[in-house]
Parts: sequence; C-alpha cells; structure tokens
Amino acid sequence: MQIPFNAWHDAILKRRSIRQYAAKPVEAAALEAMRRACTEFRPFPSARAVLVADPTEDIFRGIPGGYGKVSGAPALVAFVGNMESPDVQEALGYTGEGIILEATALGLATCWVGGFFSPKRAAAIAQVAPSERVLAVTPVGYPKEGSSLQERAMSRFGRNWQRRPVSELVTGLKDNERPDWMKTALEAARLAPSAMNRQPWRFHVDRNSITVSADSVLNPTMVVSKRLDCGIAMLHVEIGALAGGVRGTWDLLKTPQVARFKVAA
Ligand SMILES: Cc1cc2nc3c(=O)[nH]c(=O)nc-3n(C[C@H](O)[C@H](O)[C@H](O)COP(=O)(O)O)c2cc1C
Repeated sequence: MQIPFNAWHDAILKRRSIRQYAAKPVEAAALEAMRRACTEFRPFPSARAVLVADPTEDIFRGIPGGYGKVSGAPALVAFVGNMESPDVQEALGYTGEGIILEATALGLATCWVGGFFSPKRAAAIAQVAPSERVLAVTPVGYPKEGSSLQERAMSRFGRNWQRRPVSELVTGLKDNERPDWMKTALEAARLAPSAMNRQPWRFHVDRNSITVSADSVLNPTMVVSKRLDCGIAMLHVEIGALAGGVRGTWDLLKTPQVARFKVAA
C-alpha cells in the first residue's frame, strides 16, 4: 500500500490520544476501511496490525493507575511484532502509526498503549504465533462526550500535546540551509506521539538525508522501547517529505542510531 500522504499529513496535525470512549460501535464503513488498512499496510515483514472489531475481553481491565486507563473502547487494534527480527521495534512503530493515522483520517479516536494493557489477553484475542508478541495496542472508537477535561486530569502528563521545538531536536544543516521538504518533514516528526510524551528522537540532517537516533542509551528492558517511538517518528518524517514533494528510502542502522531517510535519486 502506498502512503496516502495528504490524508495522513492532515491526520498528524489533528491526532490526539483519547482514552475514554463513547458507548457507540464503530460505523461499518470505517471498520471495513480499518480492516483493509491493517491487511494492506505491511511495509515490514516483522510487524503487523490486527483489528479486533468486537473484543470479547477488556484487555485494559484491572490495570492500576490513571495513566493508560482506557475505558469503553468498542474496538481495538493489536500491534504484533515478530521478536526474532532485530528491527521489530522500529518496524512496529512505523506500521502502527500508519494504522493510527488512517483511523484519524477516518474520524476515529485512538491512543497508543504500550504499557498498561494485558499482553497475554491481547495475544489471545489477536491470535499471535509463538514467535510474535503484542507490543502495543490502540483502542478505536469515538471520544466520550465532555471527557476532554477528564482526559487532561487523568494524565499525569497534563499537557500531552506539548512538544519540544525543532531547534532542540536537530543537528547538522542550519535551519536556513534546510530545503523546504526537510522543514516539513522535521515539523511532522516533532509532532509524533511517544510513550509518556518522552520525545526521545533526535535528527541529524544533511542536504539529502535525515538520520533518526534515540536520545540516550536504548535499554532493551524498558517497557516501551525507544526504537518503537523512533519508528513512529520515521513514518512522520516520510509523510512530511512526501507532502513536501520528496520520495526517499530508509536504511536501518545500529543502536543508538535507528535509521536514515535518503532522498531517492
Ligand atoms: C509507543 C507508545 C506507548 C504509549 N503508551 C501509553 C500507555 O501505556 N498509556 C497511555 O495512556 N498512553 C500511552 N501513550 C500515549 C502517550 O502518552 C501520548 O502519545 C503522548 O503523551 C503525546 O500525547 P498525544 O498522543 O495526545 O499527542 C503511548 C504512546 C506511544 C507512542
């Protein structure tokens, strides 16, 4: 599936994490479009998304704490990674964010949830293979009316939407030396969601490439890998570049770097 970059670029600007859902089923056409996106958006062999249209179990049930408490979602998507692949985390971030942006474009609310769900229950309902794990999920549905205040109060990270400025994230070419497509790509990357809004991605830019790295040592025991956050930012970089008229390809790199976007010749 080609990246529908205009729709997904708009979605980047609109998307917010929503944790409380109205008791309203997802409309059939939107559900069908989500099912198609989950099947067709498979940019990496090691990551896939599984739509669970009518979850029989509440995988968020019994999870303590306010942060991450999702309630009332009529559907969900499980993000499934093949743990035998060394690129599973960034592949999953990139793939999952495509599904999140497609949902946003369809008028559906979502929230990446990496820590506060039951991976065992999710694995059972998404029917994963022995080499696979559900690394994250998103509820899918419509926001509960009047819950935005509650959303804010619920989150320990009150100003969820706040992001660092590009100047704190980017090294290499100076701002006035960057081509327009690159500015659009970096602005899109800056708006990416990340676990606990930690914004771990850093970008080194030269004339024809953007290299994505993580801000500190990547600890493989962390509940949510920073490489997953970086995979999300990779998709945002590419969408921004495409919206700015530039196609490119990715090379995956070794830790602490994650990947380099190179303008196609
Ligand atoms: C990989 C990942 C994992 C996340 N895990 C959780 C989670 O377990 N619980 C939760 O409430 N939010 C979770 N979030 C949502 C972030 O807190 C949210 O994206 C961030 O605060 C930015 O807010 P925004 O999405 O509204 O822009 C996660 C986000 C990402 C990208």
